[in-house]
Amino acid sequence: MILGVDYYPEHWDEARWPVDAQLMQEAGISVVRLAEFAWSKLEPREGDYQFAWLDRALGVLGERAIQAVLGTPTAAPPAWLIEKHPQVLPVDEWRRPLGFGARLHRCLANPTFRHYSRAITAAMAQHYAAHPSVLGWQTDNELTGNRCYCDVCAARFREWLERKYGSLDALNRAWGTPFWSQEYTAWTQVPLPWQTTCGPMAHNPSLLLDYRRFASDITVEFQHEQVEILREHCPEHFVTHNFMGLHDAINYYDLARDLDFVSWDNYPGGSAALPHDVMRGIQGENFWVMEEKCGHAGWNTMGPIPRPGQVRAWAWQAVGHGADAVVFFRWRSCRSGTEQFWQGILNHDAVPGRRYREIAQLGREFRQFAPDLEGTSPENDVALLYSYDQIWALQIQPQVPGFSLGLWLERYHQALHRLGVGADVVSTEADLSPYKLVIAPPLYLLDDALAARLDRYVAEGGHLVASARTGVKDGNNCAREETLPGPLARTLGIAVEDYDAIGQGGTNVVALADGARFKVSLWCDLLRLEGAKQVARYMRDFYEGVPAISVHNHGKGRAWYVGTVPEERFFRHFLRGIVEGLRLRMVPDLPKGVEVAARQGDRGRILVVTNLTPHKQVVHLQDACEDLFARAIVTEAIELHPFGVRLLRTTR
Ligand code: GLA
Ligand code: GLA
Repeated sequence: MILGVDYYPEHWDEARWPVDAQLMQEAGISVVRLAEFAWSKLEPREGDYQFAWLDRALGVLGERAIQAVLGTPTAAPPAWLIEKHPQVLPVDEWRRPLGFGARLHRCLANPTFRHYSRAITAAMAQHYAAHPSVLGWQTDNELTGNRCYCDVCAARFREWLERKYGSLDALNRAWGTPFWSQEYTAWTQVPLPWQTTCGPMAHNPSLLLDYRRFASDITVEFQHEQVEILREHCPEHFVTHNFMGLHDAINYYDLARDLDFVSWDNYPGGSAALPHDVMRGIQGENFWVMEEKCGHAGWNTMGPIPRPGQVRAWAWQAVGHGADAVVFFRWRSCRSGTEQFWQGILNHDAVPGRRYREIAQLGREFRQFAPDLEGTSPENDVALLYSYDQIWALQIQPQVPGFSLGLWLERYHQALHRLGVGADVVSTEADLSPYKLVIAPPLYLLDDALAARLDRYVAEGGHLVASARTGVKDGNNCAREETLPGPLARTLGIAVEDYDAIGQGGTNVVALADGARFKVSLWCDLLRLEGAKQVARYMRDFYEGVPAISVHNHGKGRAWYVGTVPEERFFRHFLRGIVEGLRLRMVPDLPKGVEVAARQGDRGRILVVTNLTPHKQVVHLQDACEDLFARAIVTEAIELHPFGVRLLRTTR
């Protein structure tokens, strides 16, 4: 278990560094992340590399046994570079270039920028390859899809399409370009989705989806160049990147393929449980939190300060979901620049206060429980499916405002969470055989291969929940021709005869056989049962009595279909029935805001129970557990203080 902090020695007088390092060590901090925005200090003039200051900082930290993750500083290109090569600036969809003045002012496809990125990465890698304090690297900072609209990107997009489709004929067929006479007869005719070329109308959804995939691939390629250099010079160091949880403008599965592990930046608004699970699912491994909120957020205005115990609860929540390191952003509030009011562990005055003491408590706890947590990781019976293609296709055509993959994912995940059922969030490409239950938010783009895998999973004894708008499109973002749910119709034992896009204002009610009733909105599929049984039927409108939700015994397994968007309460009711039927581990009836996450190891499971509310809460356990903080056996009800945490070991 690692406790760390993001540190910017270049913002402070050197005389202060030893005091900072001492305070860090006393709080149990053993890792700092450094330098990810320090390009102008590391290369003040082209090719003039200045590492002496960073060497001294590493030395001061090293004396306090603090090791470092170094960031490649490419998210903030210096002014000299932009002045000399303004063509590296990214261009927006109205074909306006960004200027110098904040950060991220670079197009990741630009060959000149790539040259400078490789050069600073190589210089740093060579200089720090053998440094005893350096543990590893963070590439750039919070990379996202390179949605740039410059001429380089236009040329690269056309090459990307040529590689993907092979011929213009194939592209014209895949995109269905006879629509509005869009057939291309030369690659140079294919536009980027410039707003200037389509005015108030929308581009072809097939082009839009391929552009998003392309923009993601460019970023992955950019990072790959840095990773190759780091691996060449620093084979002993790890390479990671700080992801952004539910951020979805880049395919994180692709970005992570080059990395040793995923880390991510957690600034909890609501519960961070879902983003933690998404982040763990990217590689299916434990992860780091590279930036964890430790004070109030703030650039020009400020948000509320974390309540006593809240930062500690967030950190333990992260550990419960699979974090092996929690690195706080940032050590001390900055005196200058855009983020002056983003609170560090220390305020501007550098006087250790309540939040410092809370983090020091965490430092002691991490040290104390590291042996128990060593080698443990979350292992769950339930998987939720995740896919950037699905997210993008539904962003391009949301069906009705408010309908998104995220909406479904949050409702399913939240319901499982309240039932104390842990879930993995995995790619649609993942092996599903370890899971007893697989929940699929809309598989709006559904190709035959994925449908066949899901069918086999159910036929061989798996349990699948599928959602409205499954099977609508092919991988090129064109509508499939079969009756919905397309290639999953046999698995689900239904046909969607028609559908009613009732939207945010529209409501209906569904009734279940047990008498329970729930409001639904946004979307209503009108189902015809073809082997499946009715789970719920509509109560209103011309389709009163028509099935809305179904279940089908298929082979050795079962498959449910939720053809409408019910209110949150429904999901808990519906999934509780399934989870109880499958006899999955659960801690039912958790109070809202209390979470149980579990890490499995050789010596049993460790339940991390976090109360993320400012109120006392009671949790009813199903089994006797060993309370690791209290060193006592607990049975039945346990009480949690506001933002309280318990670590419980169970052999079940
Ligand atoms: C107009 C146009 C058609 C079609 C419909 C529906 O009537 O003439 O080509 O676009 O709107 O959008
Ligand atoms: C992100 C960035 C940091 C900092 C924080 C706070 O997480 O990675 O550099 O900007 O947000 O704004």
